[in-house]
Amino acid sequence: MNFKELQKVKIEQIEHILKESLPKVQGEQNIIVEAMEYSLLAGGKRIRPMLMQETYRMFQGEQEELLHLFMAAMEMIHTYSLVHDDLPAMDDDEYRRGRKTTHIVYGEDMGILAGDALLNYAFETAASAFEKFPQESLKIGKAIQILGKKAGIFGMIGGQVVDVQSTGKQISGETLEFIYRLKTGALIEASMMIGAVLAGAGTEEISGMEKIAQKIGMAFQIQDDILDVTSTTQVLGKPVKSDEKNEKMTYVVWKGLDKAKEEVEELSREAIKELRKYHPKDTYLEELLESLIYREK
Ligand code: IPE
Ligand code: IPE
Ligand code: MG
Ligand code: MG
Ligand code: MG
Repeated sequence: MNFKELQKVKIEQIEHILKESLPKVQGEQNIIVEAMEYSLLAGGKRIRPMLMQETYRMFQGEQEELLHLFMAAMEMIHTYSLVHDDLPAMDDDEYRRGRKTTHIVYGEDMGILAGDALLNYAFETAASAFEKFPQESLKIGKAIQILGKKAGIFGMIGGQVVDVQSTGKQISGETLEFIYRLKTGALIEASMMIGAVLAGAGTEEISGMEKIAQKIGMAFQIQDDILDVTSTTQVLGKPVKSDEKNEKMTYVVWKGLDKAKEEVEELSREAIKELRKYHPKDTYLEELLESLIYREK
């Protein structure tokens, strides 16, 4: 199988895991499960669970079922961050993953609640690992701690806070990099760190993954900004020119399109190079990172 075919198979496997992980509620609150499913199964790139899985493989993890709980939890948290990011009080966007945003279809109240529900269910899912794999409690506890920290005020939420606060303002390059490292980098860092933790990697290796993922995350957000100005809504599955509409300072505004593209390439190549210290022959992971440089959505 070539890279593209393999990637397709891996995405299908992740979507299967996600489908299986959703709650099966028959009750008065059914609507919330429907809204969770609407956003979660809409078809994103599934980069975070994929990076978690590839890191797990890199460190020779062997309990796929344990890993799956955390892959699902990660994608739930990421999806919740998107549902809330699109709300009128934040970026106010009407398309996501090729369809109307959750709050447009289910109303703003359900948009807020579906995001909350995904966040909460992510931790329910991750914590269920204690019961299913009691012998791995230490690893599970550590993974949950990383998940909480990187999704919270020292991670994604912290980044979103400074992002919305900076709207319409001139901010320094340093603040911009702070925002990217937290709002986007943190969940990517958590994905690779958790893959390493669950596979039993050592402290050195885990912090190595954090550093590599920081570069991947930075490149990923710069590319997101590039696509916001160069792509189309149809290809991207979300509105273009959203940053301009919201008067956001972005890397493209700061350094220009060409420099931004160069930066994506440089950061990604550095990440690939550093990864080789841990695993010299993982071609899929390398190809994945390489493909992100030129991603069109
Ligand atoms: C979008 O993330 C938000 C950012 C952090 C840049 P993705 O580009 O991973 O979105 P999906 O999951 O593929 O929809
Ligand atoms: C959002 O950054 C990052 C999140 C934590 C959701 P953006 O606002 O640029 O993401 P998109 O472009 O809406 O996906
Ligand atoms: Mg935003
Ligand atoms: Mg947005
Ligand atoms: Mg964006």
